[in-house]
Amino acid sequence: MDYSHVRDVDPAVADALSEEVQRQRDTLAMIASENHVSEAVLEAQGSALTNKYAEGYPGERYYAGCEYADEVEQLAIDRATDLWGADHVNVQPHSGTQANMAVYLAMLDPGDKILSLDLTHGGHLSHGHPANFTGKTYEVEQYEVDAETGYVDYEGLAETAETFDPDIIVSGYSAYPREVDFERVQAVADSVDAYHLADIAHITGLVAAGVHASPVGVADFVTGSTHKTIRAGRGGIIMCDEEYADAIDNSVFPGAQGGPLMHNIAGKAVGFAEALDPAFEAYAEQTVANAKALAETLQDAGLELVSGGTDNHLVLVDLRPSHPDTTGKDVEAALEDAGIVMNANTVPGETRSAFDPSGIRLGTPALTTRGFDEAATREVGELIVRVVDNYDDEAVVEDVSERVQELCEEFPLYE
Ligand SMILES: Cc1ncc(COP(=O)(O)O)c(C=O)c1O
Repeated sequence: MDYSHVRDVDPAVADALSEEVQRQRDTLAMIASENHVSEAVLEAQGSALTNKYAEGYPGERYYAGCEYADEVEQLAIDRATDLWGADHVNVQPHSGTQANMAVYLAMLDPGDKILSLDLTHGGHLSHGHPANFTGKTYEVEQYEVDAETGYVDYEGLAETAETFDPDIIVSGYSAYPREVDFERVQAVADSVDAYHLADIAHITGLVAAGVHASPVGVADFVTGSTHKTIRAGRGGIIMCDEEYADAIDNSVFPGAQGGPLMHNIAGKAVGFAEALDPAFEAYAEQTVANAKALAETLQDAGLELVSGGTDNHLVLVDLRPSHPDTTGKDVEAALEDAGIVMNANTVPGETRSAFDPSGIRLGTPALTTRGFDEAATREVGELIVRVVDNYDDEAVVEDVSERVQELCEEFPLYE
């Protein structure tokens, strides 16, 4: 990755690109929504397909010269169908948010009602936050996680659905460490005659590998990201039953988007092919095993985890019980200095602000891509605890950063 062509034209951007690769090599990416794609996916994403306009769908394009675009998009669709088993797949959404947008546009009218999980309880902006188009376009009511257990309060969801009478219920979350009971959400949706959108952005890869229950064939619509627990490059995807296929396709194009990002769709095709290899199942299982090892390490050191543990790829720490005077941002900054990149996060019952919340969210997908097993992840957990306990002690942070460097060399990236 020398970016020699970029360097000839634009040394400033070439420097930034090279430094970004080096930053990824020299730090541990523990933002739960991040991962490292293969060089094959990078190459596909950087291909000449970026030049191609291909409005429409394979075999039905509004432009000439789409022979290879058709081939690539059909491969992405066929592989996604194999991975998740949906009747119909649309691989054109530019992102997870735009996948959700296309579902709302297809099924709702402005002013219709969305019932979704509160953002501070683990939901996502595109599920109805006031700052997002969803909050501005639709009437939104939210359900919560149980204050005691940290698990989705399915009974509360059913009660709110009864009184609110939503048009669509959204399940699937951004900062929820437990298995989602899609069947239970579907039963609530059925009881109030609402659609059910399962947004599996975070767990797309876990569902594909069978290590998390699948909402495909349960929920009316399933949306996802292609760059989190599955390593297919940045983008979104929508899956649905055949009866909604035309509505969804028309909603993505021409409803919400213009020309598809064909180079990204090539990245999706390659990443999906990689995920169809049996090795991917082992990767997904290891991702979860590593998250559990991390959770145990943090708990053994006295940190409190929302819901008391994890079933998936992420851990959410509530700092308030163990470190009442330390904020998520304090820890985020100190860990970044130590070479561990994660994010401060709101927690259920948040008492600070979204900008300086009381929690931290840690994920294992990227570490697992680098080859970390449970023992290595436990060590990372111990390093995290040292920084949490001593976030304002430069000597400790420096000491931890030296060990992080060694781990980065032991588990190399983009060699
Ligand atoms: C549950 C959920 N949905 C949607 C998205 C949006 O994905 P994107 O950033 O690709 O728009 C995210 C992103 O983290 C997410 O967590």
